[in-house]
Amino acid sequence: MSERLEDIAVAMVANGRGLLAADESTATIKKRFDSIGLESTESSRRDYREMLLRSDEAMRNYISGVILYEETLFQKAADGTPLVDVIRNAGSIPGIKVDTGAKPLPHFPNETVTEGLDGLAARLAKYYEAGARFAKWRGVVAISGALPSFGAIKANAHALARYATLCQEAKIVPIVEPEVLMDGAPGDHSIERSEEVTEWVLRTVFEELGDLRVKLEGMILKPSMVIDGKKARKASVEEVAERTVKVLKRTVPAAVPGIAFLSGGQSTEEATAHLSAINTAHDLPWKLTFSYGRALQQEALNAWNGKPENVAAGQRAFTHRAKMCSLAAKGSWKKDLEQAA
Ligand code: 13P
Repeated sequence: MSERLEDIAVAMVANGRGLLAADESTATIKKRFDSIGLESTESSRRDYREMLLRSDEAMRNYISGVILYEETLFQKAADGTPLVDVIRNAGSIPGIKVDTGAKPLPHFPNETVTEGLDGLAARLAKYYEAGARFAKWRGVVAISGALPSFGAIKANAHALARYATLCQEAKIVPIVEPEVLMDGAPGDHSIERSEEVTEWVLRTVFEELGDLRVKLEGMILKPSMVIDGKKARKASVEEVAERTVKVLKRTVPAAVPGIAFLSGGQSTEEATAHLSAINTAHDLPWKLTFSYGRALQQEALNAWNGKPENVAAGQRAFTHRAKMCSLAAKGSWKKDLEQAA
């Protein structure tokens, strides 16, 4: 496999494949496990992620790369194989979440800036050594009344650009993730407001990336879709697709090889349908695929339910969803295919 940033970025979004975001922090995975009544321990987290990563059909055909949490990057499967090797042996690329989370931004009540730049160069060298070839950093923007403010957008965009340069210096492809929340409080904003804020955020992010000379050919953008707040959901699948494509065309340079969406709290089927509609009847300069966490994992987590005897069922559920998302990345998902599991 080529070590050039451009080649890795292209491979991450190639041929209807997309990314599995399995980088939940220890606090977040605990919440997911709470939903199935499972205690979160180092070994239960390993067992769950090993189940996903050993879904050979899904990994070989539909998953180009996996975003890991640091613990998983250094973890071994039950038989002693490093999980990084399980990923690589399936022809997929290991990646790593490197930010340390969204923290309150002083002077900006109710807004955050994502931290993790201090010491990042040294951490990236360690992650490269362990096999990571791409990384992820998520900036978070919430819509609430008059917020977001430009100060918060700019602080997050600048941090994303600083992170991206450090990654490229370390031969790691940065996934630049500015998420406009759809389910933050109060979560009742309109799709028009989502469009306006998403355009503002992406425009600011690409200005900062340009100012810091980030090589656009060697990065992936991970945006949220333009969608109304979770408590106000009424936009059709077509409207979400149209507005998302409109904003991306206005703001994302054609030099960027790929855009891999987050699911952000959409249901599995919504996230699949929206991606497919985005890829239908649009002639666009970038590949548009998925980098889903919840929308790829929810059914697998429920089918597995924390029980060793359900590993095959969990893998079947994961493979089905990955296949549906792959079809969506090619614009050929149809609702009636859902039943054919
Ligand atoms: P969701 O698809 O669950 O939003 O997670 C994707 C992700 O990586 C968020 O940072």
